[in-house]
Amino acid sequence: MSTVADALQALTDLTPNREQVLADALEGLQSTPRRLPSKYFYDARGSQLFEQITRTPEYYPTRTELALLQNCLPDVARRVGPNAHVVELGSGSGRKTALLLAALQSPVAYTPIEISRAALLSSIERLAPALPQVQMLPVCADFTRPVQVPEPEQAASRRLLFFPGSTLGNFAEEEAVALLQAMRSTMGEDGLALVGIDLHKDTAMIEAAYNDAAGITAAFTLNLLERLNREIGADFDLQGFRHQARYSRERLRIETDLVSQHEQVVHVDGKPFHFATNEPIRVEYSHKYTDDSFDALLQRSGLQVAASWNAPHPAFGLRLLRAR
Ligand code: AVJ
Repeated sequence: MSTVADALQALTDLTPNREQVLADALEGLQSTPRRLPSKYFYDARGSQLFEQITRTPEYYPTRTELALLQNCLPDVARRVGPNAHVVELGSGSGRKTALLLAALQSPVAYTPIEISRAALLSSIERLAPALPQVQMLPVCADFTRPVQVPEPEQAASRRLLFFPGSTLGNFAEEEAVALLQAMRSTMGEDGLALVGIDLHKDTAMIEAAYNDAAGITAAFTLNLLERLNREIGADFDLQGFRHQARYSRERLRIETDLVSQHEQVVHVDGKPFHFATNEPIRVEYSHKYTDDSFDALLQRSGLQVAASWNAPHPAFGLRLLRAR
């Protein structure tokens, strides 16, 4: 029996501090072309806006993956077996997790690793009372940095890493390989990983998902500048930048930029950054995969596909991975 209070007691807090955010922002703004890390979208408001995105009519990945999960969870549960320790990367609201934990055979523990403290706490407050037999071991951290996974009180049979939502798509090839390699080592020799990947499809459908008519995605992207203004004392003019998301069919990815609307100077930590009219800051990639492009990543990561499920339209995939 484990309660919300136990879960909060067990919380590991490695939230990025102001110095880390500042160093990353300065490094990105000094590069050519300029960039800012998409992980900093997820402050309390950013995580809320993302939840709203998942409910727009255009953003197909979440509802497609949820339906696919419902269908393949009995199969996943059979392959994973009893007493697993589920470790989730970028757990957000934990909506998909609730389904996974309910489908598994007596999971021992759940470790959500989430950069947004607000999102992490609210997910735990919902999940803990619903799953009293599962030990909650939350970690507030940037999952791209090495994180020590807490050990459950009751020994687990194996670890199951859960990485849904095609969050892998936010990483460029080299970073994705590094992350998959780190996952392989976190999983251990007989561990498994359940990974969601958005699949390549019609450009119009993909672009609509990242340019919803209600403008929620634009607000989500611009919230990054608001966060930097608040947290590191930058002076971005939110009216001076425009959200732009385009699909590159050559690179199989959405490329999201904040585009300077006119010539302007932005100050970060007292340093001036001069922007030309139409100069972009690259803030996010969302890679879409083909079987070949995903296999190429696995080849380089020491992982292989143990089982695979696809939703046909809109195309979205789930892959159960194990060490090669
Ligand atoms: C949460 C990373 C999966 O890339 O599709 C949604 C984030 N960005 N709309 C994605 C996002 C713009 C989303 N992930």
